[in-house]
Amino acid sequence: MKVFLTGGKGMLGRTLQRHFRQHDLFIADLPEIDITDGRCVEQAVAAFRPDAVIHCAAMTHVDACETEADRAYRINALGSAYVARAAERCRARLIAVSTDYVFDGSLERPYHEFDSPAPRTVYGASKLAGEEAVRRHCPDHTIVRIAWLYGEEGPSFLHTMLKLGAQAGAPLKVVDDQFGNPTSTDAVAGLLERLLDTPIPGVVHGSCEGETSWFGFARALFEKSRLSREIIPCATSEFPRPAPRPANSRLEKRVLRLAGLPPMPHWQEALEKFISAGVR
Ligand SMILES: NC(=O)c1ccc[n+]([C@@H]2O[C@H](COP(=O)([O-])OP(=O)(O)OC[C@H]3O[C@@H](n4cnc5c(N)ncnc54)[C@H](OP(=O)(O)O)[C@@H]3O)[C@@H](O)[C@H]2O)c1
Repeated sequence: MKVFLTGGKGMLGRTLQRHFRQHDLFIADLPEIDITDGRCVEQAVAAFRPDAVIHCAAMTHVDACETEADRAYRINALGSAYVARAAERCRARLIAVSTDYVFDGSLERPYHEFDSPAPRTVYGASKLAGEEAVRRHCPDHTIVRIAWLYGEEGPSFLHTMLKLGAQAGAPLKVVDDQFGNPTSTDAVAGLLERLLDTPIPGVVHGSCEGETSWFGFARALFEKSRLSREIIPCATSEFPRPAPRPANSRLEKRVLRLAGLPPMPHWQEALEKFISAGVR
């Protein structure tokens, strides 16, 4: 398959490059390809003539999005519209990666694909606008929402914890009142590969199975990595951030189940695999 990959140099993009070696891949990322330049994206996609476009490029710094809203919307919303239009003009299928931040996190249960989004942050709102642009401009699409991502080289919560955990010092405080599904880029790559084989229209949630808090994630990481620095649970209110974090980022994989696709791996299994591979 010929696959045009936006954000190919990012954390998820790098894992996809490794997983998709059997495909003919075009890596689209800055500085060569800027998705906010419509003509540039369109020419690059038209010249490559892909069977599928996988769209990972985004402004992902959640706090920076609050202070640089124009930039966030330019990349996450307008950029996604250009990518979607370019895919449609080439009759390529589009798989666009999105986020749990489209939800406000107030539900008491995991969010499924048919729940209504209500973002509380500029990042979430701009990614939701990107989803809408994908729907509008490229009918042959799948939007894959993921959450709590980590992969080789980061940056991610896991990488911050590994660094802090290796340093001596006072016990580390880690938030224990936000819940989600820690998800490896390898697990997402497996899902995207299946979606290339078995297209599902619309939205698909693609985080790992099982759930925990950031504290639970850090504790499992420290145990599996044999880090001995003490960690203690704390409340979100002890770490005020410019962009409010959702208390509930848990995603139910309802569409995968209804479509009869295999479930995502459990987060602990994915974490074990990541650590035992020895690549950080
Ligand atoms: N990380 C998470 O926890 C998480 C959670 C849920 C969903 N997601 C979604 O998953 C996808 C991949 O995330 P990630 O963690 O791999 O992000 P990432 O590491 O920040 O990668 C995004 C890539 O897109 C590039 N990019 C930014 N602006 C661009 C532009 N105008 N034109 C072309 N490329 C541009 C970035 O380049 P620069 O680095 O040079 O800016 C970077 O290489 C994103 O859509 C994100 O919203 C991530």
